[in-house]
Amino acid sequence: MDNKSIIAKLHPLERQVLPILPHTTELAAIAKKGKLKEIEVMRALQWLENKNLLTLETTKKKVVFLDREGQRYQKEGLPEKIFLDVLSDEFKGLNIITKKSKLSRQEVDACIGLLKRKDAIEITKEEQQLQVRITDKGMKLRQERTAEDRFLEQQFPLDIERIEDVKEKLAFEELKKRKGILRIEDIKSVHATLTILGREISMYNLEGEVINRVTTGMLQTGSWKEKTFREYDVEAAVPQKYPGKKHFENEAIEYIKSIWLEMGFKEMTGKYVQSAFWDLDALFTPQDHPAREMQDTFYVEGKAKLPEIWTKVKETHENGANTGSIGWKYSFSKEETEQLLLRTHTTVLSAQRLSQLKKEDLPAKFFAVGKVFRNEALDWKHLFEFYQVEGIVIDPNANLKHLKGYLTQFYKKMGYPKVRMRPAYFPYTEPSLEVDVFHPIRKQWVELGGAGIFRPEVVTPLLGFDCPVLAWGQGMGRIISEYWKITDIRDINNNDLKQIREMKRWLR
Ligand code: DAH
Repeated sequence: MDNKSIIAKLHPLERQVLPILPHTTELAAIAKKGKLKEIEVMRALQWLENKNLLTLETTKKKVVFLDREGQRYQKEGLPEKIFLDVLSDEFKGLNIITKKSKLSRQEVDACIGLLKRKDAIEITKEEQQLQVRITDKGMKLRQERTAEDRFLEQQFPLDIERIEDVKEKLAFEELKKRKGILRIEDIKSVHATLTILGREISMYNLEGEVINRVTTGMLQTGSWKEKTFREYDVEAAVPQKYPGKKHFENEAIEYIKSIWLEMGFKEMTGKYVQSAFWDLDALFTPQDHPAREMQDTFYVEGKAKLPEIWTKVKETHENGANTGSIGWKYSFSKEETEQLLLRTHTTVLSAQRLSQLKKEDLPAKFFAVGKVFRNEALDWKHLFEFYQVEGIVIDPNANLKHLKGYLTQFYKKMGYPKVRMRPAYFPYTEPSLEVDVFHPIRKQWVELGGAGIFRPEVVTPLLGFDCPVLAWGQGMGRIISEYWKITDIRDINNNDLKQIREMKRWLR
């Protein structure tokens, strides 16, 4: 920004404060000189600091104020002087002295102690009554202007650092000890130092009216036409705001759901605790499959209630039933299929949904975004619970090209326009495919999940007849971590308020 445009954006308060700054740097003094409130000057100084026109320094110092009694003594003199004034070299009773001096009882008591110490008075006691008389020393003291007197005669408030003289220091210590005379406070003072740029700007003529805000009056009379307006500074620093918002992972999930909803998919949901029957057997995963081991799957205590079709699934596993397959050729275990577990993939929801559909429901499309659980050691690449994005299309006319089309459309909206599919193996699909997307910045293919067409061994027992079912299950962590540049996948689930506050919004 050049000087002219810096000036055009200055607030009226800044314009008032700037010309004062080369000569006066302290907040209160600037306020006095500019006939402004301190709060206004402070605001202007902070704005100017943000614009790099000055630097601010806050210093703390101790300042001495006159307290209540102190203010009185400054006008009337210290009580010990008044006390001495009413004494003569004859002994006088305390009552008379108190009455004549108009001092309070406490003051009189304090004076007696103090003057006694200085040998300025003599005291006797007659018939239980104190009698006081002034001494020669006292006479001298009465005339003398003491260090205490001089201390009180000064201008207050007083910077404590300015008390340098030894005698003055002693007087200060004495007065400080006495009640109600002095009060010491920590005062903050703000000093502004112009930067080179600030100095330059302060040399310009900043006078003349600059309008900060249009009023109705100006609009009605048209007087705005002749006015100079302050320009907007769209680069001005503004306070950081942290409004309530959703967790960033939930924002991404909502976006993903909206993609499938827009494509006409319906959402599938279900429980975290599922049976081995739905999670594995209904998907034609053999009962001796390694994924069923304890090391991979979290089992839960208890026994599932099986749906009626379990016998059809059993038969398919054992000999293929009416699917045209020969099955796995083993004896299907009921105990195995009744086990409870934390769902290991959202494909469990696809199996359940298939079993609920009738011929007249087709064609149909479903999706799920849901948490799944695997017994994995936690590290920067692995979580034991994470999200999957699942989908099925049940359509007599569906084929592999459609599958690629759906996934391409999905990933395009996630920011990855290039999708590739490679042959793979899953027990429930034929063909089985691995889905990769091309990372446009890292310029490499990234593996994101599985897909395929469900085998008749899956579809026939569940749906009651065979029909093409396009199916996929994609990991979510990797694609969304990319968006926020998260390199350690554990950072998605940190309970870190600062991270959550500062995370940029999901905007795709
Ligand atoms: N369930 C698989 C997994 O968790 C992913 C998957 C592969 C899902 C192929 C499917 C599919 O629906 O057809 O890795």
